[in-house]
Amino acid sequence: MTGMPIPHDPRRFQEPTHDDPTRFWEARYADKPRIWSGRVNQVLAEVAGDLTPGRALDLGCGEGGDSLWLAGQGWEVTGVDISTTAIGRAGAAAVAAGIPAERLHLVAADLGSWQPETEFDLVSACFLQSPVTLDRSQILRDAAGHIATGGHLLVVSHAAPPPWAGGLSGHEHHQTFLTPEQEVAALGLPGPEWQQLIVETRRRPAIGPDGSPAVLDDAVVLVRRN
Ligand SMILES: C[S@@+](CC[C@H](N)C(=O)[O-])C[C@H]1O[C@@H](n2cnc3c(N)ncnc32)[C@H](O)[C@@H]1O
Repeated sequence: MTGMPIPHDPRRFQEPTHDDPTRFWEARYADKPRIWSGRVNQVLAEVAGDLTPGRALDLGCGEGGDSLWLAGQGWEVTGVDISTTAIGRAGAAAVAAGIPAERLHLVAADLGSWQPETEFDLVSACFLQSPVTLDRSQILRDAAGHIATGGHLLVVSHAAPPPWAGGLSGHEHHQTFLTPEQEVAALGLPGPEWQQLIVETRRRPAIGPDGSPAVLDDAVVLVRRN
């Protein structure tokens, strides 16, 4: 996530979920004044730090930690999220940070139907994962189709449920946890047009809802369009 999640009630992971993603995520964001830390995801900072800023698309931007960071690095960013509450928070954070409006375009939309009108040099999907309906692979494939020649697609995701999920499997979470290799296979981006730069699992420290330390496995995939 953007930094670490603010600790929350671990029972959330066991709540039965309805199948309306807009309602689910609105309720999730409305539950607290802030969910995420507001900091950039470390892998994105590492990857984008090596790239020349251009146009970036942040899929499932949440409260905007990644989008704001990219904008601050000189990227022209489009951040899209299904939650209007999250998008509102990202906008308020951008104003507070003094980010010029032309650097950051925030869109409240369902990525299952939203289509960009331009090409991007970087598409980032950090933890675009959901316990309710999300046609994630299709969204990622569609977004890849809007990457300019020489541009990159970065996908960072939980490779397994967090330890505080109480031993629930991915199935019980109603979501899929892919290995980096499975992620690449699901993307189905053919070589040699698409060059695989990073396909690996990375471990990082995290703080669980009860404040105890944990180690999380992230699946990291970075591909470049040749
Ligand atoms: C686990 S959060 C990650 C947020 C952010 N990328 C981060 O790293 O902190 C997943 C985000 O995806 C968004 N999301 C879920 N389904 C979506 C959809 N169909 N269209 C757009 N956004 C969606 C949620 O609202 C949520 O903000």
